[in-house]
Amino acid sequence: MGARHEYRPVYQTSLVDPAEFWSGAAEAIDWDVPPTQIVDTTARPAARWFPDARLNTSFNALDRHVPPAGSHETGSPESGADPANRPALIYDSAMTGARGVYSYAELLAEVATFAGAMVRLGVEKGDRVIIYLPMIPEAVIAMLACARIGAVHSVVFGGFAAPELAARIDDAEPVLIITASGGLEPGRKVEYPPIVLRALDIAESTAPRHVIVKQRERFPSIPFPAAQPATESLPSSDETVAAQWLDWADAVRDAEPAAPVSLAATDPLYILYTSGTTGKPKGVVRDNGGHAVALAWSMRNIYDVGPGQVMWAASDVGWVVGHSYIVYAPLLVGATTLLYEGKPVGTPDASAYFRVIAEHKVRVLFTAPTALRAIRREDPTAALAHHYDLSSLRALFCAGERLDPATYEWAAEVLLADRPDCPVVDHWWQTETGWPICANLLGLQQLPIKAGSASVPVPGYRLRVLDAEGNPVAAGTEGNIVIGLPLPPGALSGLWHDDEGYIRSYLSAYPGHYLTGDSGYFDEDGYLYVLGRSDDVINMAGHRLSAGSIEAAIAGHPAVAECAVIGMPDELKGHRPLAYVVLKAGAQVDPEQLRAELIQRVRDQIGAIATLHDAVVVAALPKTRSGKILRKTLRQITAGEEFQTPSTIEDPAVLTALVDQITLAREDSASENPA
Ligand code: COA
Ligand code: AMP
Repeated sequence: MGARHEYRPVYQTSLVDPAEFWSGAAEAIDWDVPPTQIVDTTARPAARWFPDARLNTSFNALDRHVPPAGSHETGSPESGADPANRPALIYDSAMTGARGVYSYAELLAEVATFAGAMVRLGVEKGDRVIIYLPMIPEAVIAMLACARIGAVHSVVFGGFAAPELAARIDDAEPVLIITASGGLEPGRKVEYPPIVLRALDIAESTAPRHVIVKQRERFPSIPFPAAQPATESLPSSDETVAAQWLDWADAVRDAEPAAPVSLAATDPLYILYTSGTTGKPKGVVRDNGGHAVALAWSMRNIYDVGPGQVMWAASDVGWVVGHSYIVYAPLLVGATTLLYEGKPVGTPDASAYFRVIAEHKVRVLFTAPTALRAIRREDPTAALAHHYDLSSLRALFCAGERLDPATYEWAAEVLLADRPDCPVVDHWWQTETGWPICANLLGLQQLPIKAGSASVPVPGYRLRVLDAEGNPVAAGTEGNIVIGLPLPPGALSGLWHDDEGYIRSYLSAYPGHYLTGDSGYFDEDGYLYVLGRSDDVINMAGHRLSAGSIEAAIAGHPAVAECAVIGMPDELKGHRPLAYVVLKAGAQVDPEQLRAELIQRVRDQIGAIATLHDAVVVAALPKTRSGKILRKTLRQITAGEEFQTPSTIEDPAVLTALVDQITLAREDSASENPA
């Protein structure tokens, strides 16, 4: 895969001369108009990469790997395979048993046709399209089709409930929603159309003009409202007109394939909503040019995956990992991506991932530590995994949450005991950055692995750890992790229609720096240890949940006066939300019933993925004199850690009462469940 370089000089060049560094990386992309300016650092609210260049991301992901008909191209020197027939997308469903492979030529045909169907429905460049789909190939097709015509997709994770979908509809104001008749969860079918209908009912913005539904075999054909053939549809700007529902098959029938449109590198490719500290999700905007350059660079230099090799990101297209490493990055470099519908355990057992690796010769698996812990719990000796031939595996990458040393050691020493040459790599990133901030860059130079660390900063990221006053802290000292501006290409170009919110959330704490919201420390060798969020974001099973939105769901209960939600350490999922609840004066409720009702409320408002661990009724919540709930202190007390009574506390007696209550509860539970 070409000459390898050493990490340190490459990292230094990326900081000293970013324009030189990224103009080299930009050569991996086919531009309609190549960049002459690499970065405009004067742009507000964020620097703009390749501001005068033009390209199409879908063209780069598909068309350029498929030689035009009649050409005699037979294969790239790197993969040796006929490029058009090289597999682009492998689909493997542990839920239905279905398997399928799309070659680059086949995927291109599907994408161009669906793009043509959207054009026929009046979807134009810059229009937003919400994609609310399970893990089926149509999710990838819909995303790439949007990219092809310059429509801005916003994928919503299928596990979110109607109010979360409604919040995204209100912010993105889509002209089209693409959904399916349903998703399959172990032991349960989730019908999507009723959720979409309810979300449209809750949403306050103008209804989208169309809803396209992919009918799945396992679901009865759902008679949706006012279904009509696509050819008869007419866009309407009348606010009172409800969305017109169409079957995917009708929508694409006889559609003319659409050609890729030329877009500015700075045009938005997608919006992906993520949880912030408040209840309102943040619409992270990704551009086209910087994104393509950064992802292509990362495939070679971080993951060491190239044309014809199989990358499997065992995530969901609804998360950033899915956007970057299921859909865009592998295709941008002509590799093969794998879309897996299923779980690491229970579909049917803890061997599921290893069957997929062996069957499809996966070179790199990317998963969340929670998935490894789930496998370890079911199969501590990894006996099931050892039945499979894992010789194709070059590396196992983890992200979404910290890869704790115990899980790392199990993965490296038990799971991959026969593969000492296959590194287990923790790497750290966020929805906002879109690609790794810290990693062990296997394609550049593999560095020694240190358990518990996400390794070293990725080229382009100027990382610092600062104290509350903005001073750098010494190695070994925990502080706020920040990134010096400009952020590298591929990182967010702002929040959707919310420059103010972008500046407030990320840039105002430490001028000249982007605030990651994570805390951690560097060791003497420059390895970063990311310890957790320093804000009110809860990371559960590698998913990001906002304490604020869970609180909003709980506060809607008629008996609840106020509440505070914190993340409780959890053996399997890393953290789980725990609610402290103060009841309204005179409220008479049975604590067990209240608990059940609050758990249900959170599921209904946010989704099944946000399962509340517990709801504890307390007399009062500890607050500062200005009324801010002392969540950090609450977290420390709950975890049984040392804490200091903050000097700003309004009423120290509240804290004392709380400590007594929590300590007593812990003692009771210990005597009921002696170790
Ligand atoms: N649509 C609808 N519901 C969904 C869903 C989806 N796409 N994804 C999850 N859910 C539901 C589940 O069915 C479950 O519902 P239930 O409480 O009625 O059983 C609930 O949300 C919780 O799901 P999950 O977090 O998957 O927990 P689990 O206990 O079912 O499974 C693990 C545990 C470890 C197997 C699972 O959490 C997992 O695979 N984690 C890895 C996460 C991951 O890969 N993250 C990627 C970040 S990079
Ligand atoms: P998300 O935006 O949903 O990808 O979540 C990003 C957050 O997940 C980060 O801010 C971290 O808190 C956490 N996270 C992701 N990867 C890691 C990692 N490798 N180590 C520690 N925390 C991580």
